[in-house]
Amino acid sequence: MGFSDYRTALVTGASSGIGAATVRRLHAEGLEVHALARDVRRLDSLSAETGCRAWAVDVTDLGALERLASAAEFDVLVNNAGQSRRGTILDTAPDDIDSLVDVNLRAVLHLTRLIAPSMARRNRGHVVNVSSIAGHYAFGENATTFNSSVAYHATKASVHSLSQQLRVDLSGTCVRVTEVSPGRVVTSIFQNQNTADDSDARFVGGFETLQSEDVAHAIAFAVGSPARMNVAMIEVVPTFQVVGELRFATRSEAARLKETRSGVANA
Ligand SMILES: NC(=O)c1ccc[n+]([C@@H]2O[C@H](COP(=O)([O-])OP(=O)(O)OC[C@H]3O[C@@H](n4cnc5c(N)ncnc54)[C@H](OP(=O)(O)O)[C@@H]3O)[C@@H](O)[C@H]2O)c1
Repeated sequence: MGFSDYRTALVTGASSGIGAATVRRLHAEGLEVHALARDVRRLDSLSAETGCRAWAVDVTDLGALERLASAAEFDVLVNNAGQSRRGTILDTAPDDIDSLVDVNLRAVLHLTRLIAPSMARRNRGHVVNVSSIAGHYAFGENATTFNSSVAYHATKASVHSLSQQLRVDLSGTCVRVTEVSPGRVVTSIFQNQNTADDSDARFVGGFETLQSEDVAHAIAFAVGSPARMNVAMIEVVPTFQVVGELRFATRSEAARLKETRSGVANA
């Protein structure tokens, strides 16, 4: 398998960021690309640019996913649509938990359930799941580089887990499964949280980060690899972003933190 063996691709979350860059890249590699997102205007403009087929669909709409899956046979599925919310388990809103589970996890399971069986029957296909380093590591309060909630971390860890199990479920077929786990990328997903001083698109909060094209490049590497090679997982992070932290608190700090939290709870 490689680009020449694949004809069609479906990319979710295609209206911006990593998804739009992936549509452009897969189109450039010669695939017929179907692009899914909610924003019709941005999809239309991507379609005018690349010739991709636009699907204005909310990934939480199971009926719409079923119609889409029966409308075409996809050789490549890129599960990329995602949302983020800020907050910890102490202040997370119930709706935020539901939205993240619905978009980041439930939709990935349903779309894969709807599309992978046809790949297995044809003995041809590639599922690419975009997770996050948030699925593999816990972060502290580094708000300027990544401001994600406990629910975001949990859904992305689940995307890692489902990717591992998917390879087992599809073993013995030529269908490959790749998890791409990015660090910080300049996109709109954390827009409300840390773009105040981002006049230069290479930076977030003053830090040099990845571009969407970098992640699309990693996806293209996996999809374009020879049939004998399944790139199971790629972690791609900015050169200047590292993960690693071990925390301790003194008893007096812990007491101060407790007071602050009870103040927040009573506010
Ligand atoms: N940027 C980062 O630092 C980073 C790091 C690690 C992982 N990721 C992951 O990368 C993926 C792409 O995010 P991005 O960074 O490229 O951000 P983005 O530019 O905000 O893209 C998110 C995409 O998901 C789509 N989407 C959101 N909710 C949807 C829904 N209910 N139905 C259909 N489409 C929906 C959005 O389109 P519409 O609004 O038009 O629906 C948009 O196209 C996400 O899974 C994210 O978790 C990002």
